[in-house]
Amino acid sequence: MPTANEIPRGFVKGVVINFQRWTDNEFSLTIKANIAPYQAGQFTKLALPDKDGNWLRRAYSFVNSPNHSLGADIMEFLIIDVPDGNLSPNLAMLNVGDEIFVGDKASGFMTLSEIPTTVKDLWLLSTGTAIGPFLSLLAEPECKVRFENIILVHAVRTRQELVYSKLIIDLLDSYEGKLTYLPIVSREKHQDILSGRIPNLLLDGKLIAAVKVTPKTQSSFFYLCGNPAMVHDTQDVLLKLGFEKHLRRSPGHFSFENYW
Ligand SMILES: Cc1cc2nc3c(=O)[nH]c(=O)nc-3n(C[C@H](O)[C@H](O)[C@H](O)COP(=O)(O)OP(=O)(O)OC[C@H]3O[C@@H](n4cnc5c(N)ncnc54)[C@H](O)[C@@H]3O)c2cc1C
Ligand SMILES: NC(=O)c1ccc[n+]([C@@H]2O[C@H](COP(=O)([O-])OP(=O)(O)OC[C@H]3O[C@@H](n4cnc5c(N)ncnc54)[C@H](OP(=O)(O)O)[C@@H]3O)[C@@H](O)[C@H]2O)c1
Repeated sequence: MPTANEIPRGFVKGVVINFQRWTDNEFSLTIKANIAPYQAGQFTKLALPDKDGNWLRRAYSFVNSPNHSLGADIMEFLIIDVPDGNLSPNLAMLNVGDEIFVGDKASGFMTLSEIPTTVKDLWLLSTGTAIGPFLSLLAEPECKVRFENIILVHAVRTRQELVYSKLIIDLLDSYEGKLTYLPIVSREKHQDILSGRIPNLLLDGKLIAAVKVTPKTQSSFFYLCGNPAMVHDTQDVLLKLGFEKHLRRSPGHFSFENYW
């Protein structure tokens, strides 16, 4: 492993304090690292040296709120082990006690402060591991008081990838009816789970029927996160439905973060 003076610029040394496996290729890492203050919904970078000593670094979103009871220096990441990926297979082999290098400064604009103050209904549309930053936002006390309705959509290939069910049950309880969780599975059929892809289900009205909340241009805001093809196709549908892309200089209705 590298020595302290070989740590890449902008990274600090952290330690893995928990490894939770969800499926054969999906897991969560909990890391202790002393990084600069971050906001719910942001991401930082994780880095490890490869076998030749070259640094591999990639972006990963916080699953936790920085304000959680464990303290901001304890952070959790939900990660998929991409077959033939460069870094993620190495992250999948980490054990409790191993060292890992964490970007000192977080980035990202998928935060509560970027949402226009007029918004009453917040739609959080995710695929795969991109539910992570939405769980981070939902853990914020501000999120609980600020919106009338929050719709958390998690689209995955198979039912076993519907991760963090215990945390989601606790969130549903704490939001007292304001939060709706809609799981979607694309490669299996289940009687109790909506089947398909987010953009098609939004366009044909099945997603709206399932959550029983109608999006409105006056009061709704969408965050889209994950697979760039989903983000692209969902933007097309939102534009068709009369919603506009949000820019700081021109407030609109949706914003997004692509994972690759
Ligand atoms: C802002 C941002 C936040 C991110 N947050 C997360 C996160 O919280 N968890 C996470 O697992 N990844 C996240 N990623 C993706 C992550 O940075 C890496 O790209 C991923 O771990 C693959 O790295 P690799 O070196 O193993 O694969 P690479 O050799 O870099 O292969 C990249 C390929 O892997 C696939 N891929 C990458 N990420 C994913 C993913 N999340 N789900 C499905 N397929 C994927 C795509 O086909 C992509 O072309 C994020 C990316 C960005 C830009
Ligand atoms: N998830 C697994 O079981 C599994 C198993 C082995 C390997 N992998 C690897 O893991 C990575 C994929 O991980 P992942 O399953 O979390 O992510 P993913 O491929 O992004 O799939 C997540 C969800 O996004 C959907 N999606 C894909 N394109 C879309 C679009 N244009 N519009 C709307 N929705 C879209 C998928 O639907 P569709 O199913 O219709 O594409 C799926 O429901 C790949 O590298 C893959 O090779 C995954």
